[in-house]
Amino acid sequence: MPGKNANIVVGLDLGTSSIVAVAAKVKSGGQLDIVGVGKAESLGMRKGTIVDIEKTASAVQKAVEEAERMSGYEIDRVVAGITGPHISSMNNHGVVAVSNERNEITPEDVQRALQAAKVVALSQDKRIIHILPRQYIVDGFDGISDPVGMFGNRLEVETSIIVGAKASVQNTLKTIEKTGLKVEALVFNALASSEAVLQNAEKELGTVLVDIGAGTTEIAIFREGSLLYAAVIPIGGDHITSDLAVGLRTPIAMAEKVKIEEGCVLTDLMPDDKYIEIPSVGGQEIRKVSRRMLASIIEPRVEEILFMIKEKIKSSGYSDVLPGGVVVTGGSASLQGLARLAEEILELPVRIGMPQNVGGLVDIVNSPAYSTAIGLVCFGAKRFSFGDEAAEEDEPVLVGFFYRIKNWFVNFFTQ
Ligand SMILES: Nc1ncnc2c1ncn2[C@@H]1O[C@H](COP(=O)(O)OP(=O)(O)OP(=O)(O)O)[C@@H](O)[C@H]1O
Ligand SMILES: [Mg+2]
Repeated sequence: MPGKNANIVVGLDLGTSSIVAVAAKVKSGGQLDIVGVGKAESLGMRKGTIVDIEKTASAVQKAVEEAERMSGYEIDRVVAGITGPHISSMNNHGVVAVSNERNEITPEDVQRALQAAKVVALSQDKRIIHILPRQYIVDGFDGISDPVGMFGNRLEVETSIIVGAKASVQNTLKTIEKTGLKVEALVFNALASSEAVLQNAEKELGTVLVDIGAGTTEIAIFREGSLLYAAVIPIGGDHITSDLAVGLRTPIAMAEKVKIEEGCVLTDLMPDDKYIEIPSVGGQEIRKVSRRMLASIIEPRVEEILFMIKEKIKSSGYSDVLPGGVVVTGGSASLQGLARLAEEILELPVRIGMPQNVGGLVDIVNSPAYSTAIGLVCFGAKRFSFGDEAAEEDEPVLVGFFYRIKNWFVNFFTQ
C-alpha cells in the first residue's frame, strides 16, 4: 500500500468529458513537481454539472487510483473544481470599525470586513463559493492589498463574490466524499486555471482567461491582480463534435476523432484537395471529405462560441481595459487556428495558455486540457507557501489558511 505524504497536493477537475486527478509534491521553496496523473471518462456530467452521482463518483475513484498508482502515494484529500452555467460573479463592499484601542488593524478586523462584504441578497438556491478581496481601504486610502498592521479607524474591503447553485456545490461534495476522499477546498475552475496559465503581469494588466472545455466555456477577467468578473457559458467542444457528426453523417466517436486529428477553424486556409476517409453511421459506407469541408463545419460553431465570449466580455464592462488580451485554455484550445480566429472576432491579442511553472511529469500534462487540474494543485500548494509549514507530518489546517495569502482568497469552507 502506498504511503501518505503531507507534502502531496491533489487537484481534481470534474469535467464534462473527463475527470482528471493530478498529484504534485510541494518541494521546499514552493516548487511543484507532478508525481501522478489519472484520467477517467466522465459519464455522469453534462455542461459542467453532475447529473449522475454514482457514475461521477466511480470516475473520480478511477482517476484518483490511477494518480495514486503512478505517484506511489496514498491520496485521501483533494482540492476540487466547480463550474457550470449556474456560476456568476458580483461585487460587494464591507465596512467595519477597527476594534482595538491602538487602532492597529488585526487579522480579525480583516475577517470581520470580509464577513460584512458577504452580506448580499441571494436567492435560497444560491450560495457563495468565493469572496475575493480586490482592495482594502483604510480611512479613505485605497489600493491597499494587506492592511494588517496598519493603523486606522475605518476598514473597508471591496470584493468580487463568486456565487453558484447550492445544489451543485452539495452534489459535488457528496460525489467526492462518497469515494472516501476529503474535499480540502472547492475552487471555481477558471480561478484555478488562471493560477496555472496566467502570469502575474497579465493579472495586473487586465486579461481575460477563457477555458473552452467539452460542455462549458468559462470566462474570468483579471485586473490589478484580482478577479473582477466571472461567467460560464454552457457550450464547448462537444457542440463542435456533434455538428461534425450531423454534417458528416458519422458516429459521435468518429466525429470526435476527426476533429482532434484533422480539425481546423480556418476554412480559407484549408486545402480542398486533401481528403480524409470517414465511415458513415452503420459503417457500411466510407466517404471522402476534404479538410476544407471539415473546417467549414467547425468554423461557424467556433465563431458562435467566440461571439458569445465577446458578448460576456462586453457585458462585464471591462472590454476597454484589457491590454493583456485573452488567454484561451481548456481542451478545445488545441483546435488548430483557434487563436487566429479568436483575435479576429474578439479584437484583442490572443494566446493559447498551457499549464506553466510545474516540474516533474510535465510531458503528461503538457496540454491546455490540464490547466484546471494543475491550477487546483497550485491553489492547494499555497498552504505550503510559508516554508516551515511544509514540514513532514504537518496536518494542514484548512480554516483560514488562504486568508494568510495576502488575504486575497477566502474559501467557502471558512464561512
Ligand atoms: N486537439 C484538439 N482539437 C480540438 N479539440 C480538442 C482537441 N483536444 C481536445 N479537444 C476537445 O476538448 C474538449 C475537452 O476539453 P477539457 O478536457 O478541457 O473538457 P472538460 O474539462 O472535460 O469539460 P468542461 O470543462 O466543459 O466541463 C473536448 O470537446 C475535446 O474534443
Ligand atoms: Mg474543464
